[in-house]
Amino acid sequence: MNTRTSHLTPRPGIMEISPYVGGRSTLDGGQNVIRLASNESALGPSPRAVAAYEALGDSLHRYPDGGAGDLRDALGALNGLDPARIVCGTGSDEILQLLTKAYAGPGDEVLYSRHGFLVYALAARAAGATPVAAPETDLRADVDSLLEHVTGKTRVLFLANPNNPTGSYLSKAELRRLWRGLPENILLVIDSAYAEYVTAADYEAGAELVDAAKNVVMTRTFSKIYGLAALRLGWCYAGEEVIDVMNRVRGPFNVTAPALAAGLAAVQDQDHIDTARRRNDKWLKRLVPELQNIGIAVLPSVCNFLLLRFPEGGSHDSKAADSFLTTRGILARNVDTYHLPDCLRVSIGRDDEMDALLLALKEFMA
Ligand SMILES: Cc1ncc(COP(=O)(O)O)c(C=O)c1O
Repeated sequence: MNTRTSHLTPRPGIMEISPYVGGRSTLDGGQNVIRLASNESALGPSPRAVAAYEALGDSLHRYPDGGAGDLRDALGALNGLDPARIVCGTGSDEILQLLTKAYAGPGDEVLYSRHGFLVYALAARAAGATPVAAPETDLRADVDSLLEHVTGKTRVLFLANPNNPTGSYLSKAELRRLWRGLPENILLVIDSAYAEYVTAADYEAGAELVDAAKNVVMTRTFSKIYGLAALRLGWCYAGEEVIDVMNRVRGPFNVTAPALAAGLAAVQDQDHIDTARRRNDKWLKRLVPELQNIGIAVLPSVCNFLLLRFPEGGSHDSKAADSFLTTRGILARNVDTYHLPDCLRVSIGRDDEMDALLLALKEFMA
């Protein structure tokens, strides 16, 4: 054993990071589990994406296309965007981290809303910046509160729209009001990881705002509706300046060839995405009243998950619910780290998984 004391000192802020703990995916004993803790796709990826991934098997000795040209072209064609203003990354996580490091550092502040996605605070600390959380109203990002927390030190504002774990979103008009209230030297990052699930007419994923402003970025992922979480693939759309910065700070081959191939095939199979959206919508509509009927408060969600609120204290609280579901092999997400100790988050899973969830929760609440 090496007993020498280390003289290595990480940059200020790094040791204040609590490493990200994802949703549980296994149980001791190795029994089959129903994984509802990570907002993964219930349907899985398009079979065409799986075939494209497998076809890469005989060329693993080749470097990928570092510019992700074909995938950017396909994303541009699908969404009506200029492919030159798209950058791909190893999951949208990488994009969020790179944006933070590029635009914020020691002495700067990174702003997000209180129940916003955890990675924003972690990315801020990793960059040496200070994370600042603006309070929400009724578990929704609050435009006024966010703007009130802007200071001369704010450099980046992260907004998950819709947000994980609350499932709530800001309308297109609210998003515009937020942007209009921001000084031009603050980068507004609109994290639209769940955009493809949203069917609300007043929702905008962010591309129009990017086109109207130099200080706006939209980030997207293949981990949710595209069902390719294992491959780690995401992208962003931004103005020329931000894209230039991202192309300087990203690794030369940051996205793997299997991810690029599967992502391209997945984009070209929009029937699969439509099916996934439709069945998600069907379950959202069905679950909300059924859960309310048995005494569980459910937040309105436009995503592939629901935030369930349990009565505090007593035998029907969120901790008891989590334990009970675990005994049934159902893994939900404890959201204590999101400052929501009375809640559990559950993803929309397969039909049989949702039937099992409903059955278990009815038994628990009885
Ligand atoms: C709001 C939000 N943004 C980004 C991500 C990260 O996704 P990716 O798998 O692309 O890194 C997640 C993952 O759960 C998320 O919920």
